[in-house]
Amino acid sequence: NRGWPGLIENYRAYLPVSATTPVVTLHEGNTPLIPVPTIAAEIGRGVKVYIKYDGLNPTGSFKDRGMTMAITKAKEAGAKAVICASTGNTSAAAAAYAVRGGMRAYVLIPDGYVALGKLAQALLYGAEVLAIKGNFDDALDIVRQMAENYPITLVNSVNPYRLEGQKTAAFELVDALGDAPDWLCIPVGNGGNITAYWMGFNQYYQHGKSQKLPQMMGFQASGAAPLVSGIRVKSPETLATAIRIGNPANWDKAVAAKNDSNGEFNAVTDDEIIAAYRWLGSREGIFCEPASAASVAGLLKVKDRVPSNATVVCVLTGNGLKDPDTAIANKINPFQQGIAANMDAVAAAMGF
Ligand code: F0G
Repeated sequence: NRGWPGLIENYRAYLPVSATTPVVTLHEGNTPLIPVPTIAAEIGRGVKVYIKYDGLNPTGSFKDRGMTMAITKAKEAGAKAVICASTGNTSAAAAAYAVRGGMRAYVLIPDGYVALGKLAQALLYGAEVLAIKGNFDDALDIVRQMAENYPITLVNSVNPYRLEGQKTAAFELVDALGDAPDWLCIPVGNGGNITAYWMGFNQYYQHGKSQKLPQMMGFQASGAAPLVSGIRVKSPETLATAIRIGNPANWDKAVAAKNDSNGEFNAVTDDEIIAAYRWLGSREGIFCEPASAASVAGLLKVKDRVPSNATVVCVLTGNGLKDPDTAIANKINPFQQGIAANMDAVAAAMGF
């Protein structure tokens, strides 16, 4: 038993690879589906709630699913270098998979708006990290132009192989639950992941693997919610920097996923995001990054509309270790420091 082979091997029949495709993998995917009873109890009415914890991928986010495919196909095509714009997670994944595939990675990030752990990853994997005086939307415009004018492969989610890889998360949900959930709650930034999940659910449904399709419930941060308002946001703002995006590249596909699934887009405030983030950590033992918590914040916001006895899956897209600054700023208990190194002092600090 050689263990989990990675998502390309496991779902090969559903992916655009051949026997000779040079698979670049870190054995991503196969992430846990975790019940969250305190969230379910808050909703009541027999509703079951699960977390798809994609923060347990090799670089700590769902981006690994897309990047194993995008880098594999880039290698197959003979690419020597890849480029992406990123709020942090895409750059970490691109950097890791590129080096594994023997390619250079160039990543453009918004200066000052990438969480510390993500920046550390891209630097350590050996990417060329270029911080620009602009936001994610500006960076994406530039890398699109770069890929048109120079011999370098774009690995943002406008690359169709990214979505092919990411759709496998929907396969894993159906494989684990025995059917699709009734609701899928998911944070939305550029709109790639909601599109990919919807592709995956449909493909599995057509192959008779599930009896139903879920309603796609997409959640954006209220300061960066163009898909909720229908209007591009020039200066998006949210502490959930991963989804600080005003002009989603997959706009039309994300809207189609929402409409075709009879789903909804809703906005959650930064306060609601942080409340869900702290709840997941301190009541369920699950540490995610703030953008990920938008899915749970959103579920709690619209909880009265969840059908009774429904099965709900909230996607947690990224690991909490990505963003230690936000965790420390939102700690649950006072952090007592400078305590004398003897038992009496420790006991006193503990309140005995
Ligand atoms: N959650 C996290 C943790 C993300 O990093 C992202 C996107 C999303 C959700 C939204 O997914 O864009 O497919 O709708 N991060 C991109 C990046 C933009 O550069 O890492 P989406």
